[in-house]
Amino acid sequence: MLDILAPLEPDPIDVLLGEHRTILQVLDEVERESRRLEAAGALREVFWRDLLRFVDEFDAGLHHRKEEALLFPALERAGLASDSGPTAVLRDEHRRIQFWRDRLERAVVGRDRLRVTSSVASFIDLVRNHVLKENQILFPLARRLLGGTEIASLSRAFVPLLARQDIGHWIRHPFALEAST
Ligand SMILES: [Fe+2]
Repeated sequence: MLDILAPLEPDPIDVLLGEHRTILQVLDEVERESRRLEAAGALREVFWRDLLRFVDEFDAGLHHRKEEALLFPALERAGLASDSGPTAVLRDEHRRIQFWRDRLERAVVGRDRLRVTSSVASFIDLVRNHVLKENQILFPLARRLLGGTEIASLSRAFVPLLARQDIGHWIRHPFALEAST
């Protein structure tokens, strides 16, 4: 049967919710590191480079791809307008996330502590609000709009894009910051 998830096929909305939990966990640690930097701590370049790697590989490379290439088009096929409405807003937010990611990288390369903390504050605010919007508006909408066949098809398409949830895979120096300062 096409429209019933096989036992090993992940529920696509649950997958995205799990990835959001990972992203929020990283943001909490980034906020802590940013506060440390603001309080005249050293700029730990390796921390920020690892964060950029996480944003590129996990967030943009795996998570946003599932949403932009698979979930959003499925919702648009189910009736949402592609040029306005929730998917258009969320696509635009993905671009804004990329904009702040690039600003952060330039600040890290320039070792500009003030710009690192200000860019990262905008980045964190934007991503937290974005995740909240998807969790509270888009995913419930997806559960209402998508039938079993669409869910099963998304589930299969997600398999090559499943992300390892252990942060250490992307970030070599995970955030035992209190211990190392
Ligand atoms: Fe998301």
